[in-house]
Amino acid sequence: MSRALDPEPIRACVFDAYGTLLDFSSAVAGEKAVLGERADALDALWRRKQLEYTWLRALMRRHADFRTVTAEALDHAMEALGIGDEGLRDRLLAAYDRLAPYPEVPATLERLAAGGLRLAILSNGTPEMLASGVASAGIGGRLEAVLSVEEVGVFKPAPEVYMLATRSLGLAAREIAFLSSNAWDAHGAASFGFRAVWINRSGAPCERLPGEFAAEIPSLAELPALLGVAS
Ligand code: LAC
Repeated sequence: MSRALDPEPIRACVFDAYGTLLDFSSAVAGEKAVLGERADALDALWRRKQLEYTWLRALMRRHADFRTVTAEALDHAMEALGIGDEGLRDRLLAAYDRLAPYPEVPATLERLAAGGLRLAILSNGTPEMLASGVASAGIGGRLEAVLSVEEVGVFKPAPEVYMLATRSLGLAAREIAFLSSNAWDAHGAASFGFRAVWINRSGAPCERLPGEFAAEIPSLAELPALLGVAS
């Protein structure tokens, strides 16, 4: 699998944020005492609706920022599950600004940076959400750029979003490894021309979408070895 990354050097790693570096499930997990057995259903429906709304708004050409979409998705999910609690709603949205990083993330970013790779985020999140998420996860020091779709006013997987990374880093798409746990996002990135690596945290079956992955790994812990960065 790693052979796909060998022939030309990778100069930069560009990461998706939510689900890849930041654990969106940590928001609902913090309210488990209140939600009880409804926690998993709320977590799954909130995320599913959030993504659906980004895709639908992109098709409708009716962009609203990710904070708005995230709140609207939560409102739908809470109503669908019969959870009417304004205080909980506000706490969940506030928690989305300080999500926990996945455990392997800080050390992985450190190793990649020490190995000479340039590191950046490219996300649907607003600049404010991303700044706060990166700061609370303590990973800002390793990142050269935190790029938001707000610069182009459309969500992933529109190609103009991925172009933000080539433009900002001044690199060709083939010089960039794009990392996402969201298979559809990794397909969008591969279709654009990045060498996309799917971080398949849940062992999900592959999507039937265009854009061939350079590799698939179960967590970011395997990334330095994949890129030939010594431990
Ligand atoms: C992001 C979403 C797709 O961070 O997770 O862009």
